[in-house]
Amino acid sequence: MTNIFDCSQTNLQRAADVIKQGGLVAFPTETVYGLGADVYNAKAVANIFAAKGRPAFNPLISHIAEPDTFSELAETDERALALAKQFWPGPLTFVVRRKNLSPALDLVCAGLKTMTIRMPDHPIALALIKRAGVPIAAPSANRSQSISPTTARHVFESLGNKVDMILDGGACTVGVESTIIDLTTPQTVMLRAGGLAKETLEDFLGEKIILSHGNPDMPSSPGQMLKHYAPQLPMRINVTPAEKRPQEFYIGFGSMDGNLNLSKSGDLIEAAANLFAFMHLAEEQTEYPGIAMAPIPETGLGLAINDRIRRASYR
Ligand code: TXA
Ligand code: MG
Repeated sequence: MTNIFDCSQTNLQRAADVIKQGGLVAFPTETVYGLGADVYNAKAVANIFAAKGRPAFNPLISHIAEPDTFSELAETDERALALAKQFWPGPLTFVVRRKNLSPALDLVCAGLKTMTIRMPDHPIALALIKRAGVPIAAPSANRSQSISPTTARHVFESLGNKVDMILDGGACTVGVESTIIDLTTPQTVMLRAGGLAKETLEDFLGEKIILSHGNPDMPSSPGQMLKHYAPQLPMRINVTPAEKRPQEFYIGFGSMDGNLNLSKSGDLIEAAANLFAFMHLAEEQTEYPGIAMAPIPETGLGLAINDRIRRASYR
């Protein structure tokens, strides 16, 4: 018996009740599965940190289901509203100044005067938030420093019964976490490359976006910590088939084929969607002591893929 539930109306309502009563629900989004709690319930939010084994100073993303909630929670200017209108629901998260300074939100925001907000593009996530009647705080639904989950089974394997319910909405279509941009300064800064390409944002804004690599010791976005997305096995990146060691499990890309191939046609969107699931599969192989991955182009979603695998390969 697992705590994985299908997304029937009854189960959705049960999940919303769990959130209202201060419990934890893992739910699908288009990026990765989230581990959700009521943003206004500090005890529930603390349980997220405990379940993940995550340092409690990491602020969490507040997920909303109606665009209007954005301006209720945060200071929104023209740029923020235009970006939200264009890209929400979708894999884009904003760092904005808090308008709601209620102490109930302090834990979600890790005491900061800024917060992160996103409207996910997934019917189950949106229905859950609406039924719960509150924004839902949700980091990825996995133990801290392990690979983010893109299926309900990944969540169960990582968190087991530490979560009250896991809603199964199938595999995530985007497969990497949302892009995070900081809107608290006049110049837009990207804190985390993710499911929405930097070029797409730049085209819309008509300006270049600064990519912040942050300070790994003092991350403003702890996703910037060097060893953050780590498989159990040592992993080498930018490895061509010729450079692959005989004992390595090889994850290929395009014409560089291997035990698995992120995208035979070299499609970076397909590669992002496969990335975490393939890393899970690779680390489950008992006969291989290590993983090697083919070079990935540094354009479009390749930025997010390279960011995640650089961290995964960090030792
Ligand atoms: O795709 C996603 O974004 C997924 C799904 C579930 O929505 N969520 C996710 O959350 O990746 P999480 O907690 O794993 O990553 C949130 C990142 C963290 O690196 C956190 O440090 C950063 O956002 N963050 C949160 N609030 C912040 C703030 N006020 N200023 C700077 N960074 C912040
Ligand atoms: Mg995470």
